[in-house]
Amino acid sequence: MSANKIIFLNQKGGVGKTTSVVNLGAALAKLGKRVLLVDFDSQGNLTSSVSADGSLPGMYEVITKQISAVDACQSTSNTNLYIISSNINMAGLNVELVDEDNRNLFVKDVLASIEQTFDFILGDCPPSVGLVTVNALVWAQHVIIPLQCEYLAMEGLNQVMRTVASVRRSLNPSLDFLGILFTMYSKRNKLSYEVVEDVSNYFSDKVFKTIIPRNVRLSEAPSYGLPIFAYDANCSGAKAYMRFAEEVLNRVK
Ligand SMILES: Nc1ncnc2c1ncn2[C@@H]1O[C@H](COP(=O)(O)OP(=O)(O)OP(=O)(O)O)[C@@H](O)[C@H]1O
Ligand SMILES: [Mg+2]
Repeated sequence: MSANKIIFLNQKGGVGKTTSVVNLGAALAKLGKRVLLVDFDSQGNLTSSVSADGSLPGMYEVITKQISAVDACQSTSNTNLYIISSNINMAGLNVELVDEDNRNLFVKDVLASIEQTFDFILGDCPPSVGLVTVNALVWAQHVIIPLQCEYLAMEGLNQVMRTVASVRRSLNPSLDFLGILFTMYSKRNKLSYEVVEDVSNYFSDKVFKTIIPRNVRLSEAPSYGLPIFAYDANCSGAKAYMRFAEEVLNRVK
């Protein structure tokens, strides 16, 4: 069996990509799945969210073939949860790869050797569509779009749907759009409700039933380098990400 390869994509910044990758990963690991997180973002937020060491060889060194993917895997304090880290070196890759033949196939190529080792590989993308993001889209099987329940969410959504459609037409015809995840939902905010209504009407069953609430514990956990289940397993955010993980398990079946 080969891993389910899922990336979280939205070129809008701060919509909950990284938070969703780390906590979906931790939830799946708690459910007994072997999970690898891959940080494609030079910001390295995913790396620090699980207290991994961004100064060790990571995704940059893997893509530039200085180290194998297996050797770049770091364990975390969570059983079953591993990561290939990232740091600022990744920022240069968009330029460094430009003149390479097969410049869109690097990630697919270098990660192939570890796909048998894991049940899930979850990739966290930067908030931009450069060569690294395109590489991630060529490698992935499934894409999840996190959407912040706020003004202009729809605008970002159209853009990201266009990106997915264009990759599917050319570089990765089997790329599957797994669904839209609403994040940072505020009960008290009428706009949150309206965004969910509008998007759900249009995308119907592509929308995950689980809605991630705005929850301060989710925003605190990364500064302790902990997934939410290790920081506060009983908060509303932890419960929501666990329900989301169960939905993901059903959808990839
Ligand atoms: N459900 C939530 N409740 C409260 N805060 C949240 C929630 N989800 C994310 N945050 C916070 O919002 C900020 C942005 O989240 P996150 O880093 O996950 O977004 P991102 O899409 O990965 O951002 P970027 O585009 O910069 O990579 C972070 O400070 C995070 O802790
Ligand atoms: Mg991020």
